[in-house]
Amino acid sequence: MERTFLMVKPDGVQRGVIGEIVARFERKGFQLVGAKLMQVSRELAEKHYAEHKERPFFGELVDFITSGPVFAMVWEGDNVIAVARQMMGKTNPQEALPGTIRGDFGLTVGKNIIHGSDSKESAEREIQLFFKEEELVSYSKLM
Ligand code: CMP
Repeated sequence: MERTFLMVKPDGVQRGVIGEIVARFERKGFQLVGAKLMQVSRELAEKHYAEHKERPFFGELVDFITSGPVFAMVWEGDNVIAVARQMMGKTNPQEALPGTIRGDFGLTVGKNIIHGSDSKESAEREIQLFFKEEELVSYSKLM
């Protein structure tokens, strides 16, 4: 079964939309297999965003993601990586369609509420960065 890493960013936590976001993925039929509210260290942020190291906004990215608690999650389900990204909407919330998470809650590209892995490789890498194996559960869904 496919897994992805999703993270409510500090703006989403501040805005009080963790519950709303979790509810959307639950209603869709995905399964939460790991979650924690945590403070991201600069070291972890720099590893997580390593692919953006050369971008002019890299410093801003690290400052922002370390500015307050985030809600890190691992979700499981059929094609969850691509479907979750559809549910999140475009990176720039001004271009994200209404009905998507960023379309409904966000307004600026830096503070865009949620992060989601963009491929199997990044999902695996990001899950390993944020979670220990024993923090993830596995259980069969009855419905
Ligand atoms: P995320 O999916 O977390 O991965 C990289 C992040 O870079 C992206 O979401 C945006 O929040 C952020 N980002 C992309 N473009 C810009 C930009 N021009 N200025 C600031 N942040 C950006």
